[in-house]
Amino acid sequence: MAARINNGQGRFAGKVVVITGAAGGIGRASALRLAREGADIVGLDLSREGLETLAEDIRALGRGCESVCGSVTDFSAMDAAIARAAEVFGGFDGLVNNAGIAGPMKRFDRIESEEFDAIVAINLKAVWYGVKAAYRPLRERGGGAIVNVASMAGLRPNWRHSPYGITKAAVVSLTQHAAMDYAADHIRVNCLCPGPIDTPMFEQMRAVMEPAAYQASRRQIEQRTLMNRFGIAEEQAAAVAFLLSDEASYVTGIAMPVDGGWSISDGHAH
Ligand SMILES: NC(=O)c1ccc[n+]([C@@H]2O[C@H](COP(=O)([O-])OP(=O)(O)OC[C@H]3O[C@@H](n4cnc5c(N)ncnc54)[C@H](O)[C@@H]3O)[C@@H](O)[C@H]2O)c1
Repeated sequence: MAARINNGQGRFAGKVVVITGAAGGIGRASALRLAREGADIVGLDLSREGLETLAEDIRALGRGCESVCGSVTDFSAMDAAIARAAEVFGGFDGLVNNAGIAGPMKRFDRIESEEFDAIVAINLKAVWYGVKAAYRPLRERGGGAIVNVASMAGLRPNWRHSPYGITKAAVVSLTQHAAMDYAADHIRVNCLCPGPIDTPMFEQMRAVMEPAAYQASRRQIEQRTLMNRFGIAEEQAAAVAFLLSDEASYVTGIAMPVDGGWSISDGHAH
């Protein structure tokens, strides 16, 4: 069945959201979704070109969009995004820690120490810093919401993809701990666990694999969902918007699968 998306209106009128990895699949779809619902956006990404396109598209929707080009591993880039939100929009109400990489796909014993450090820096430590840095401005704002983009891989392991799964499992735990410490200040912290989503991250696999092997791998992944398909970024954006919105006012500390049933699948074709 094809994906159907209901684009809600107005839930983020007057709100400002900082999004990392805003130029990529899920980050860009989330930024556009939130802007359509009234939010102004500050995007942080490595891709200057992707940020420029996003800013044009958001301004065309009548909303503001500021960009910070840099790496989330450089904490001054996150500080700059938060500072930009304050200077231009008077502060922010939500943070989406979405930037991430797939990292090496090989047996556990073949992972090099440098490879492990690199993925931990992006997928885990940068998320930790974002959640830490957002605390004071959100508290001063009277509260807010944070969404960390983890993965189903953080809840169920995948063959030969341990560094990714380990970092995403740690993001689930990080989310729970921050939710505990921040709740009294009216700051909700949740994480999203996407299943397989058609984004540039998956497209990169196409470039490094034989066409037949790529198609076989896609088919195998599809069959591991109950819905027999990849998801689309807009389906994740809808969940990001829900978790950031006041409709989720009693939701904190959760790891929310949006995965076409991956989490309960037995992995067999239907
Ligand atoms: N695509 C999937 O199937 C899937 C599944 C589960 C979880 N996720 C998670 O969703 C998030 C977004 O993934 P996506 O599929 O949209 O990927 P994507 O590759 O389309 O987008 C990721 C974006 O993050 C940016 N980025 C990467 N490293 C960065 C860094 N060091 N500093 C700043 N920006 C950086 C990239 O430039 C890119 O624009 C990731 O955390 C990923 O792990 C994706």
